[in-house]
Amino acid sequence: DSIKVFAPGSVSNVGCGFDILGFAIDGIGDEMILSENDLNKISIKPIEGYENLPTEASKNVAGVAIQAMLDDLGSNQGFDIEIHKNIKPGSGIGSSSASAAGAVVAANELLGKPYSREQLVDFAMQGEVAASGDAHADNAAPTVLGGFCIVRAYDPLDVIQIESPKDLWCVVIHPQIEIKTKEARELLSAQVDLKKAIRQWGNVAGLISGLHQSDYNLIGRSLEDHIVEKQRKILIPEFDNLKQAVLEAGALGCSISGSGPSVFALANGRETADVIAAAMDTVFKRTDLDYKIYVSKV
Ligand code: HSE
Repeated sequence: DSIKVFAPGSVSNVGCGFDILGFAIDGIGDEMILSENDLNKISIKPIEGYENLPTEASKNVAGVAIQAMLDDLGSNQGFDIEIHKNIKPGSGIGSSSASAAGAVVAANELLGKPYSREQLVDFAMQGEVAASGDAHADNAAPTVLGGFCIVRAYDPLDVIQIESPKDLWCVVIHPQIEIKTKEARELLSAQVDLKKAIRQWGNVAGLISGLHQSDYNLIGRSLEDHIVEKQRKILIPEFDNLKQAVLEAGALGCSISGSGPSVFALANGRETADVIAAAMDTVFKRTDLDYKIYVSKV
């Protein structure tokens, strides 16, 4: 049997929620075709346009994620995997997690759904370990479950999908440079100042409450990241100009998407989202960098 799946891109961290918040975006994602084979082997076809991505199953995020699932199941079912990558690796919009999540969702269907969607997040996360050296589920959870997700805990994994307000929109600009998540994580200090931590968890609480009550003003007051953004923004061209321009254009807030280089802004309503997209375009037009802008419902 064979199955085709679409694995959406995602924005993780969402400002204040480093490693614990993320949401799926539409408009960009990977397409994957999985077929069962009789060879007891996971075989990955060369990935068009990304010939430098590993096709060896033990080094490829999709292969690692499916293997984690098969090991848990005690199965040696083989699969042929074809990946059509639309999300560039090192983009900050969940490229590796899309491949890992798409693979386990597709394999689970072909195997007769032995696992729930929540359980699949754990296997997809194993793929992320292969890509970044660290287990984080803030892209994997929304990619597998859809919508806005909270990773309440990692050990054991506890993932919660929440509703988001009906007029909440997201604008993402993806400058076409590559930032490796592993390197962007190594940049971070292991210590957090208590005063900053207090502001940060106040914001996380405010953001979740704002999403719950569709209180756009509260969402806007709560998005700011006091811990990670400052340490990483040096990797992103025009970050300060971009942030200033989108806030002036009416964004509720703006920060790095995942580990960058993509930057996201949230908006109340599609019209404001379009104004923000235009403001991002104005800032980046002045550079000689290629970039793409996506407007998506959260
Ligand atoms: N939370 C992770 C990080 C996401 O910021 O390193 C990586 O895409």
